[in-house]
Amino acid sequence: MHRPARRLPLVLLPLLFAAGPARADAAPLGPAAERGRAVIERAQCNRCHAITHVNGDRGVPAADRAMHCVDCHRWILGTKGDPAAIARQRADFPDWDRYLENIVHFTRLPDLGTLTRRVHPGFVRRFLDAPFDLRPHLETSMIPLRLTAAEKDDVVAYLAALNGADAGAPLATTPAPPPARVEAGQAIFVARGCPTCHRVGGLALGAAFDAAFYAAMKKAVPPGDVAAPVLTAPDLRWVRERIPRATLVRFIEHPQAVDPQSAMPKQALRPGDAEAIADFLLHAPLKTGPAPPARAPDVPLLARKVTYDEVFDEVLGKICVHCHMHPESNNGDGGAGNTGGLGFAGLKLDLETYAGLKRGLVRDGARRSVLEPAAPGEPPLLLEALLRRHREAGRDQRTVDRLDGALGHGPDASRPGMPLGLPPLGVGQLSLVKTWIAQGAPGPIAPR
Ligand code: HEC
Ligand code: HEC
Ligand code: HEC
Ligand code: HEC
Repeated sequence: MHRPARRLPLVLLPLLFAAGPARADAAPLGPAAERGRAVIERAQCNRCHAITHVNGDRGVPAADRAMHCVDCHRWILGTKGDPAAIARQRADFPDWDRYLENIVHFTRLPDLGTLTRRVHPGFVRRFLDAPFDLRPHLETSMIPLRLTAAEKDDVVAYLAALNGADAGAPLATTPAPPPARVEAGQAIFVARGCPTCHRVGGLALGAAFDAAFYAAMKKAVPPGDVAAPVLTAPDLRWVRERIPRATLVRFIEHPQAVDPQSAMPKQALRPGDAEAIADFLLHAPLKTGPAPPARAPDVPLLARKVTYDEVFDEVLGKICVHCHMHPESNNGDGGAGNTGGLGFAGLKLDLETYAGLKRGLVRDGARRSVLEPAAPGEPPLLLEALLRRHREAGRDQRTVDRLDGALGHGPDASRPGMPLGLPPLGVGQLSLVKTWIAQGAPGPIAPR
């Protein structure tokens, strides 16, 4: 019989993840920042992000490991290559080896607490409105937020206050240097090996750094290597909208001097390199183009019978149950999409059991089927939510010149695509779901 994926670890992990040592030497938070901290706690940002306050105790402690998407995954993956540790865990968790096989997502994320040491608060504010893939090698995305504009303002006031940044000040710009200077900066950027981790929008940085190079690089990172810095390297195309010049130069010279939590290793540079690279990053002409079309793929119907067990093993049990659990098997917590969490109230949608799937979700106080269309002419809601994630993913390849909320590429928090924060499903998986529903959504062969 299939073993529901999350049952064991959730019940058996009462471990608390302690907050780091703190020195309370910073000024008290103002009222807006205090409200912002409360919003962060309520929306559970600390289940994914660290929120460290350097030299102070006003950060938000990490969520309990039994709740923490990143800490729990890292804890499990951290036993990779350690046969003794694996043997110990197998005694409590018979499926430990499968966990090691299966977990790939939510393993590394930026620290929000130190972010405004480098990144301008105005950018953070715009990002909260329309999050997009800043980190092109990272498969997980920032989730859309169900927060009001005032709540987002408060969150940014808090993140700025942790580092004494001014949330209201505009980002200072610098006059463009001569084109030859920008080109020289680009040559140094390439010569120092920066493109091994970073892309700069659609700029060609030499024949060596093509799509195949980055694909091979991602493959070369062992799945259990949760510390590999390459995967969280941002696209530096956004630097000009994120980082003031003086901070940028200091960061390039010594990342940890700006942000002690930074995941970027210090690079070997020569005097003057950082200045030249900053000129390149701030002023290189960007390759602009239209936003990529927001398209969902064609999903063919399969010419064979598809069972519930297949759909469960390939889709529901593999990906969806982690946020749509059966509450009774998880101490009452059904996950963000069921009993609520991550700032969502939850829609009472249980995808861990066939009965739950058939019951559907609760919206506006009424039960609705997810196996039927939400509106006439649309695909069944379950499939439609999966196709919506494909349409959202257009934002991931943005090479357009301005980060402009009006582009509309950020996911719509009122109707987020599924799976939330994860890459869209492949056509093979979508075909299974579509065909199974078209065949009348038959139940499991053996009752579960
Ligand atoms: C389910 C996990 C998850 C939760 C919960 C979450 N985030 Fe994120 N967040 C991400 C991921 C993944 C990224 C990285 C996206 C990228 O850079 O491509 C990210 C990135 C960000 C960034 C951009 C960082 C940068 O470098 O500029 C900000 C700001 C942010 N999150 C704020 C928040 C806030 C505020 C909350 C709570 C209201 C929150 N996040 C909750 C997953 C999460
Ligand atoms: C108590 C530990 C624990 C916590 C907390 C946890 N997970 Fe997991 N997660 C696991 C285990 C174990 C697996 C592998 C399950 C399996 O093999 O059946 C997994 C697998 C996954 C998968 C499928 C594999 C992958 O990497 O894509 C997703 C998606 C996922 N978790 C999302 C989340 C999200 C989102 C959160 C936070 C809301 C979370 N998890 C919190 C233990 C945890
Ligand atoms: C081994 C991979 C790696 C290499 C090589 C590397 N970086 Fe980074 N870089 C990172 C990571 C990871 C981050 C994100 C740090 C964080 O979130 O704290 C980063 C962040 C940055 C940022 C901040 C970007 C932003 O939008 O927040 C700049 C600027 C930067 N790197 C410049 C450079 C330059 C210039 C070089 C070459 C001298 C370089 N990097 C080489 C991994 C790398
Ligand atoms: C990281 C957590 C997470 C994962 C993983 C996830 N969901 Fe959801 N899901 C949610 C949340 C939160 C909501 C509620 C959104 C809302 O309140 O409108 C939701 C809502 C839904 C809805 C209702 C959508 C609508 O438009 O009414 C469907 C259907 C759904 N999820 C299906 C899935 C399927 C299928 C998967 C797996 C492929 C999946 N979800 C994976 C968190 C998640």
